[in-house]
Amino acid sequence: MNIIKLNAIDSTNSYIKKLSNEIAIESYTIVVAEHQTKGRGQLGTSWLSEKGKNLTFSILIKFKSFEVQNQFYLSMAVSLGVIASIKKDVSSSLKIKWPNDILSGNNKVAGILIENILRGNFIKQSVIGIGINVHQKVFPISIENVTSLKSISGNNYDMDELLRDLIKMIKFYVSYIEKKEFKTLKNLYINSLYNYNKPTMFKDNRGKVFLGKIIDISESGRLVVELENKKTCKFNLKEIKFASS
Ligand code: BTN
Repeated sequence: MNIIKLNAIDSTNSYIKKLSNEIAIESYTIVVAEHQTKGRGQLGTSWLSEKGKNLTFSILIKFKSFEVQNQFYLSMAVSLGVIASIKKDVSSSLKIKWPNDILSGNNKVAGILIENILRGNFIKQSVIGIGINVHQKVFPISIENVTSLKSISGNNYDMDELLRDLIKMIKFYVSYIEKKEFKTLKNLYINSLYNYNKPTMFKDNRGKVFLGKIIDISESGRLVVELENKKTCKFNLKEIKFASS
């Protein structure tokens, strides 16, 4: 495993993508930064993290035979790896808020941004960016429902140890993809899914709030929601939000 440690960079995802265009880098190369000046989140959002307080890193993984249509299984594997490694350190129950936010209670403790590099119908490489709130106690007021490992447990963490453990657990769950054991991954993901089978308020992309229940995740990773009238609808990331977020 090859770990590149940086003091400051715009975004570890952008850095590792650029590096892999310039030179051949091995699978499971990791870039970790003390500070990101332009940390990126899902759907074009920013990822804000106080300098030196949290883990912000990216992993480049190369695949031999990973079809694009199965891409959501990577989201599942990474979310499960993050949960498995941090749950040893916090006693509270952790859940995955679809698609891949890690929550303690209703508060976000980690976020994941996956960017795939395709060749034809195959994912050749993935850049997996992970931000874990570790020691930060105070967050900008613009960020709601957020927490950190220290806020949950009161403990201090050895960041190198935490990073090593995260990589180990992510590798473990990604190996299910390599073995094409997709069903196992899906079952494990559903078991950890926030609000699975519970009445939940959602908001669609026109701002309409509605009640529904998550009943499944589709093959392509869409959220399958049963509405009040018992009709089933599938939503992608741009089409639906939890009304509380
Ligand atoms: C999200 O929840 O919106 C995803 C957040 C992902 C943040 C991480 S921090 C390390 C890596 N580099 C980035 O620019 N983003 C990811």
